[in-house]
Amino acid sequence: MKEIKKITCIGAGYVGGPTMSVIAQKNPDVEVTVVDLNHARIAAWNDEDLDKLPVYEPGLDAVVGEARGRNLFFSTEVDRAIDEADMIFISVNTPTKTYGKGKGQAADLKFIELCARQIAAVAKDDKIVVEKSTLPVRTAEALKNILENTGNGVNFHILSNPEFLAEGTAVTDLHNPDRVLIGGEDAEAIEALVNVYAAWVPRERILTTNLWSSELSKLVANAFLAQRVSSINAISELCEVTGANVDEVARAIGQDSRIGGKFLKASVGFGGSCFQKDILNLVYIARTYNLYEVADYWEQVIIMNDHQKTRFAEKIIQTMYNTVNGKHIAFLGWAFKKDTNDTRESAAIYVADHLLDEEAQVVVYDPKVSAEQIYRDLDYLGTRSPEDNRRLLKVVDNAYEALDGAHAAAVLTEWDEFKGYDWAKIKEGMKRPSFVFDGRKLLDRKELNRLGFAYYAIGE
Ligand code: NAD
Ligand code: UDX
Repeated sequence: MKEIKKITCIGAGYVGGPTMSVIAQKNPDVEVTVVDLNHARIAAWNDEDLDKLPVYEPGLDAVVGEARGRNLFFSTEVDRAIDEADMIFISVNTPTKTYGKGKGQAADLKFIELCARQIAAVAKDDKIVVEKSTLPVRTAEALKNILENTGNGVNFHILSNPEFLAEGTAVTDLHNPDRVLIGGEDAEAIEALVNVYAAWVPRERILTTNLWSSELSKLVANAFLAQRVSSINAISELCEVTGANVDEVARAIGQDSRIGGKFLKASVGFGGSCFQKDILNLVYIARTYNLYEVADYWEQVIIMNDHQKTRFAEKIIQTMYNTVNGKHIAFLGWAFKKDTNDTRESAAIYVADHLLDEEAQVVVYDPKVSAEQIYRDLDYLGTRSPEDNRRLLKVVDNAYEALDGAHAAAVLTEWDEFKGYDWAKIKEGMKRPSFVFDGRKLLDRKELNRLGFAYYAIGE
């Protein structure tokens, strides 16, 4: 196997952008080109002003600043980048299907197939093709079939290399991964990719498996993580009716080293582009193999998560005397977690939708999410007309403005800055009683009660 000199990544999104930036940063002798069909996205990756990168991640500006123009390039010339590369990562989106067979559950692989056909059509010499996207188990088989049947007679080696970074901590996760997983059949191809990571990741943390274990492990890792969140959220409801405190329960069980303390933070529900999509996909795969009990077991994680979002919205309505019609509710946060501008499947979208159905007047502030994105998220649901969404929901760029005159504040994202606000001043500007509904258990109950707020938090 020849030495890897040029890497191309198809897909300059939340995974392709940061991952390739770190690979380029750590392998200055390898030329890394990230391509995308989306011209605006590529222009933003090339923007002189590093504050304008299309993905907000702490520390990413420094990594891109170091490597871009040296051995890291962002381009829309997909064919050329494929032609020149020794190794091609596919990091395109694999959303839940919205049509046809498997609608609402199966992963939509149309973008993956388009990439495979384009690689096959363009490649004039042997390539290593790396699945970076999260894919259903056995996708490599289909990929190989397409590449070999539509290609120019060159050899393709397929590897699976799922990405485990979490948004908001992408750069630290990439710099210091718990493990890198590489699945494949060809030892030389595997070794070529191992060498790329070995530039900064200790060898013992680079795991190699067969293709199917690697593909499946990604879905399973997300399912296990999401299951922990749904488990603690289920307990949060029990805490609310029994007088137990979910944080105390989480601490008590998390001290057991067999359980561990991470991923036990009760919340308004998990969001993000991965958990729901990947569990639905796992459920779909299990059903296609007639494993109905397995499918039902994992589906419950999603059912619980939907319940948690509805429950939070219902709690707000019920506490505010069973009507929120015309009431001003300030949303603190819209992103699915702190330190990201990503809003995909954010709990805030569904809680807002529920309250807007009740004709609440919602005013949103998020430090990193634009008004356009917030309206896009709501319009996408199709619950009401875009005009009604704009009549009922406003977006402001200052939290104090969002809270001024509000009947209630609802914390939807755990942004650190919310903790440091002058809550005494906020209280003066709010209607009475002044309600705070904390979907992230972020604020200080004692302090807010002292200031005279009626404070409600998940799991207390
Ligand atoms: P994304 O939507 O942010 O980015 C995907 C990009 O691929 C888009 O910019 C799109 O324009 C581009 N694209 C699609 N088809 C293309 C084509 N034929 N040619 C060129 N460009 C094309 O998605 P993402 O969040 O980066 O996720 C990518 C994959 O990684 C998914 O499979 C996802 O499940 C997985 N993943 C995501 C995360 C995460 O935190 N977001 C973490 C781990 C794994
Ligand atoms: C997840 C996986 O963690 C990552 O390994 C994978 O590559 C992509 O999917 P991400 O969705 O970016 O990453 O963020 P994560 O930190 O996992 O949080 C997902 C959701 O769960 C967020 O909405 C978060 O607020 C919520 N969450 C997480 C909780 O509600 N409680 C917790 O204890 C942890």
